[in-house]
Amino acid sequence: MTAEATVAQRLDGKIVGAEIRASLPPRIQAFTASAGRPPGLGIVLAGHDGGSETYVRNKMKACAELGVYAVLERLSDEAGVDEVLEIVERFNQTETIDGILVQSPLPSGMGSGAEQRVFVAIHPDKDVDGFTPINAGRLVQNRPGIAPGTPSGIIEMLDRVGIPIEGQRAVVIGRSDIVGKPMALLLLHRHATVTVCHSRTIDLPAVASTADILVAAIGRPGFVTRDFVKPGATVIDVGTTWLRDRDAVIALFGPESPRLEVLERRGHTVVGDVHPEVAEIAGALTPVPGGVGPLTITMLLSNTIRAAELRHAQGK
Ligand code: GUN
Repeated sequence: MTAEATVAQRLDGKIVGAEIRASLPPRIQAFTASAGRPPGLGIVLAGHDGGSETYVRNKMKACAELGVYAVLERLSDEAGVDEVLEIVERFNQTETIDGILVQSPLPSGMGSGAEQRVFVAIHPDKDVDGFTPINAGRLVQNRPGIAPGTPSGIIEMLDRVGIPIEGQRAVVIGRSDIVGKPMALLLLHRHATVTVCHSRTIDLPAVASTADILVAAIGRPGFVTRDFVKPGATVIDVGTTWLRDRDAVIALFGPESPRLEVLERRGHTVVGDVHPEVAEIAGALTPVPGGVGPLTITMLLSNTIRAAELRHAQGK
């Protein structure tokens, strides 16, 4: 089939993100007037992961546009986990910082336990990513707290475009603490019937193709092909892999794809976990880029403002 045969509704994260973002300026202005300072976000970026660079740049830009104070601390690929912990501790103590975000993934040289060591060190009141054990526990028990931005943004998108969740079969591919697990919990709290799949799941396409709502969050470009998808299903693509190899881009998108021009110009193109052929069978699909990414950033901003309001109300 050609691109013209595409049937899936495009779920545009830029449009939904902008709708949500429109509600934020009055809150930012009210907070700034009352606190005598804008809401503040402290960001730590260690290393040079391509997707993380994009995310952090876009987060800084969104803060600047909305009048949220953002400070970025950069560390090299060779930095140790203690350096990250030192910055987190400083942000914990800084009154004008309401939210702390340590960009994931941390460089592999920090070791496999690094993220858990860092996330537990963030003060729960400033945990705008919802990654601390306190907020993760609140999410498990469906108590008020801050939930991670990507899965919250996906729920918000489904609600705003009118895709039902209650009673539906949802399959989440990927079991990370950042997306897969919180996504499964948020869907469960909305009364979906949820299955979590991962690299050891036997016959992944057979399980995935039972889904009315399929969320792919594994970081493997084009992995979810048409045999994973029930016709008409809603497919949410969380992947953001930077592809730099021309042949790999042609293999996925064909020799005529405008992606090749992007690759030429930027040296990379951002690719999701869902194969382009899925657009011919899904009922609705988030594009990459421009789907889930902009929503994650909007939810982060919303969480930062909420953290600022709560801290200010507590006299902090
Ligand atoms: N890496 C990918 N998504 C996220 C996110 O939402 N927050 C952080 N801190 N790192 C990420």
